[in-house]
Amino acid sequence: MDKHAAIGVFDSGLGGISVLNEIRGLLPSESLIYIADSAHVPYGEKSPEFIVQRSIAITEFLLAQPVKAIVVACNTATAAAVTELRQRWPELLIVGMEPAVKPAVLASVSGKIGVLATTGTLRSARFAALLERFASDVDVITQPCPGLVELIEAGQLDSAVTRNLLNSYVEPLLQAGCDTLILGCTHYPLLKPLLQTLVPNGVQLIDTGKAVARRLQSELGKQGLLVDTQLPVDRFYGSGDVYKTEQTLALLWPTEQSVRALGF
Ligand code: DGL
Repeated sequence: MDKHAAIGVFDSGLGGISVLNEIRGLLPSESLIYIADSAHVPYGEKSPEFIVQRSIAITEFLLAQPVKAIVVACNTATAAAVTELRQRWPELLIVGMEPAVKPAVLASVSGKIGVLATTGTLRSARFAALLERFASDVDVITQPCPGLVELIEAGQLDSAVTRNLLNSYVEPLLQAGCDTLILGCTHYPLLKPLLQTLVPNGVQLIDTGKAVARRLQSELGKQGLLVDTQLPVDRFYGSGDVYKTEQTLALLWPTEQSVRALGF
């Protein structure tokens, strides 16, 4: 494995940019290749079989670039497909992500935790196992958030429509006494500024972007695959309307980027 190869990161759309920002912050010399599978967003409403098939195709594409590691920057795709990806590519470093249940249990004082995530993640066996493992002593209220991902993809990060929809998902959790909210979809941290205006000060918002970046750094380090002096070259691909993807990406990533057509 060439340590100068890029790191491949993918999501159903641009939600994974919340993770990519953390990776860039921690690993400034690494080249990054990001795939937004925007033609098929939202993954949260698709079948696990469909997500497995897309995740395999995207991983094959990334390996051909080549990449030295893959980050599944999507809770829904991790729940549906990471086991299959690891079986197919046992030698490859694959970092997935799941809702931050354990840190939320540690952080909560009221013992009531809200989980905002996609329908697919909340229905998955992986999520059920996570609750069983870490959350048996607390009350967990799950809240699927249909429609939110589409608004974020359209660049509506603080529109009235987004605010109202987000509020309709968060308000019942606050009413129920949750003092900790898990942002269990990589799109949702992109709404953090808006979310902070909707929740009282004491309510904690927890996501896993930073932890994923740290895990990636640690695993690459163990395998001797970190670079520290290279000038990074980043590339972005999308399977949907690349012009629209570019427009929203410009709101989320510090430098202007063109998005190339993925072609499948
Ligand atoms: N960003 C994704 C996640 O973390 C998926 C959102 C979607 O496409 O439904 O779950």
